[in-house]
Amino acid sequence: MNTKHKKKSSEDEELPKLSPASLIAKKRDGKNLSKSEIQWFIDQYLSGQIADYQMSAMLMAIYLKGMDKKETAALTNTMLYSGRVLELKNAHVIDKHSTGGVGDKTSFIVAPLACACGVKVPMIAGRGLGHTGGTVDKIEAIPNFNSGLTLNEFEKNLYTNGLVLMGQTEEIAPADKRMYALRDVTATVESIPLITASIMSKKLAEGARGFVFDIKVGRGAFMKDIKSARLLMKSLTETGARFKRDVLASITDMSVPLGRAIGNSLEVIECIEVLKGRGPEDLKLVSLHLAGGMVYLAGLAKTHAEGIKQVTKVLNSGEGLSWFQKMITWQNGPDNLIDHYEILPIAPVKTPILAKKKGYFHKIAPIELGLFLVEMGGGRKRKEDKIDHSVGIVLEKHWGEQINKGEPIAYIYHHAHQTDLVNSFIQNSYDEIFKISPSPSPKRKLILETSIKRSFKHV
Ligand code: URA
Repeated sequence: MNTKHKKKSSEDEELPKLSPASLIAKKRDGKNLSKSEIQWFIDQYLSGQIADYQMSAMLMAIYLKGMDKKETAALTNTMLYSGRVLELKNAHVIDKHSTGGVGDKTSFIVAPLACACGVKVPMIAGRGLGHTGGTVDKIEAIPNFNSGLTLNEFEKNLYTNGLVLMGQTEEIAPADKRMYALRDVTATVESIPLITASIMSKKLAEGARGFVFDIKVGRGAFMKDIKSARLLMKSLTETGARFKRDVLASITDMSVPLGRAIGNSLEVIECIEVLKGRGPEDLKLVSLHLAGGMVYLAGLAKTHAEGIKQVTKVLNSGEGLSWFQKMITWQNGPDNLIDHYEILPIAPVKTPILAKKKGYFHKIAPIELGLFLVEMGGGRKRKEDKIDHSVGIVLEKHWGEQINKGEPIAYIYHHAHQTDLVNSFIQNSYDEIFKISPSPSPKRKLILETSIKRSFKHV
């Protein structure tokens, strides 16, 4: 396997005597950190000289004071070379990454569709963060699925099969792996430089020529408004260009959950349904847009629109579904999952949330639903928590749909011992989560903006 090893900082400044507290204070006071200081801090953290509490303080300082372009690139580079970096061996290697949302499960649809059109998809994905679920946590709902491949196995799957999905190991961007887990539990996720460095360090290590980024905006996303989503789009695109990679970035709506299912097993089922030509329309549209972008960046379609046409064809023909099943089988999962949902753990009790009045949905608050999933054990409160893949929520009614008083808006899947927790959630949070009005809801625009920057150069 060809790998590049850690790059030495070319800056080679004379470092004055550094201490964790002095660098934390420097960032706390709004000053810029040099490339060497960033590298020193991360190296010390990885070698155990800097403790989690000091890294947490640094993350909070970055969260509050930000980082400029140069610092963000230095942080990305340090995190990238904290592990091994695979070489690009095939010009059709393209990955997709989302900045995270509630019910955001497009990877399981996008990756097989793009692969069925000839893209090589090296997906190294993240775990749940804050109120948002993580692709790796979701795929691990599938019994025996191996998301912890070695890099040799990863490359073998990528180049012989064309499709691989795994979590971060200690080999790939270990600095991100550890910082990501800390950010999740220290309220330091919603930071443009931290998100950029986290995503780019993992993605650049995979040996891809380009990336499709799904930048979520709205109540359920880390970027709450279009202005901050645009800043994140710019930051990801510029960092991609700095590392000579192609980037297609789209800002997509996360004002309500994507699709109807929220929760690990339930989301896997929903994706299989989409691959069978059923499933929610919003999830299908965003997935086709992103997968089409991958086909285009890989040079397998002349335009993004043509890429979308190609992936629509393989969705309709069932080829995408069969690639999904193949991926599960290659990674040790059951070889009949697509026809046997009962293989997945699903919590035994199903409690409805009933509509208090008739009308149309003007609000379905994603954060509250995402946080309740965490409360039920479907996400983590502390980084060492184990996930319960079986719990979740399925929306029976979605944005724009009409409902009558007393009809179920959603079902909560939970365990019997959680019944009081579920009932008090419904009682206390209903008015916060749902707004039903007599007038039809405004139309929801799913894909708000797309930018494409071609910078690929084989280095
Ligand atoms: N996804 C990531 O991989 N990292 C972040 O910081 C946010 C979303």
